[in-house]
Amino acid sequence: MKKALLVMGNLLLPAEMDELEKHFDVIRLWKERDPEAVLQERRADIVAIASFHYVPVSKTLIESLPNLEIIAQFAVGTDNIDLAAAAARGIPVTNTPDVLTEDTADTGMALLLACARRVCEGDMYVRIGKWLNGPAPLGVTLRGKKAGIVGMGRIGQAVAKRCSAFDMDILYYGPRKKDVPFQYFSSVPALAEAADVLILCCPGGAETAGLIDGPVLESLGERGILINIARGSVVDEPALVEALEKRRILAAGLDVFAHEPHVPEALISMDNVVLLPHIGSATIETRTVMGRLVVDNLLAHFNGHPLKTPVKV
Ligand code: GLV
Repeated sequence: MKKALLVMGNLLLPAEMDELEKHFDVIRLWKERDPEAVLQERRADIVAIASFHYVPVSKTLIESLPNLEIIAQFAVGTDNIDLAAAAARGIPVTNTPDVLTEDTADTGMALLLACARRVCEGDMYVRIGKWLNGPAPLGVTLRGKKAGIVGMGRIGQAVAKRCSAFDMDILYYGPRKKDVPFQYFSSVPALAEAADVLILCCPGGAETAGLIDGPVLESLGERGILINIARGSVVDEPALVEALEKRRILAAGLDVFAHEPHVPEALISMDNVVLLPHIGSATIETRTVMGRLVVDNLLAHFNGHPLKTPVKV
């Protein structure tokens, strides 16, 4: 009998789902009308979980599956997983680092350019015929501006490379100084004060929750732009709404939100925001390679080979 694999969300592409079907009895939890009942009924069969950034893998879930052996996450971030609970049971967790770095950084730049040059407003301006009555309002240039990158990991460095190509100066914050040729700030408020643009590239989770609050946005200033390609939890969302409403910052480009897929109504009606449905890594190429990594990690585990991309705890 095949081992049961609990697939918690629907981001894996058909080819990788087909591959998983060959090796596992796949439980498509997101399709179940009563997921709790299915979990209860199949709890002893489930030996592996394929998880996704938007579905929690809680301590309760981990503890309720007595034969769980591995959690394979389809994302680089793992803030949805209770890593301590997995570690306590000796259950390895894998993720999908590196392969999504460049596309995620591209998403950050798309948001930055869209905000600075008012791309979405411009598109609307043409579509609703406003151009016929006169020129569109002006944007701001990026050239010569200071990009403050929060989190100088793989994605932060890829964003820095792109910002440099746009002739921006790079400043950054992180828990520690890195071996990179950019100016380091040991505090986020100081970085916000110095930067024209804040680009969030850090992990989510308890350590970064609410890092960008009202006073930080105030420091960023009325010409400042906030870009978030990290996690919604990094930003105090009500404070951001207020800062945008009161024009304390110029604009925000957001790929992530506190309660996805729900976006605050106030943001939806604003013209100084660009909103994306968490598509940082969402290209056919990258999602294919991410799915392959999920499959390869699961097969490696059950074939007794080293995991391809284990999460270090
Ligand atoms: C997506 O948000 C990821 O963490 O890969």
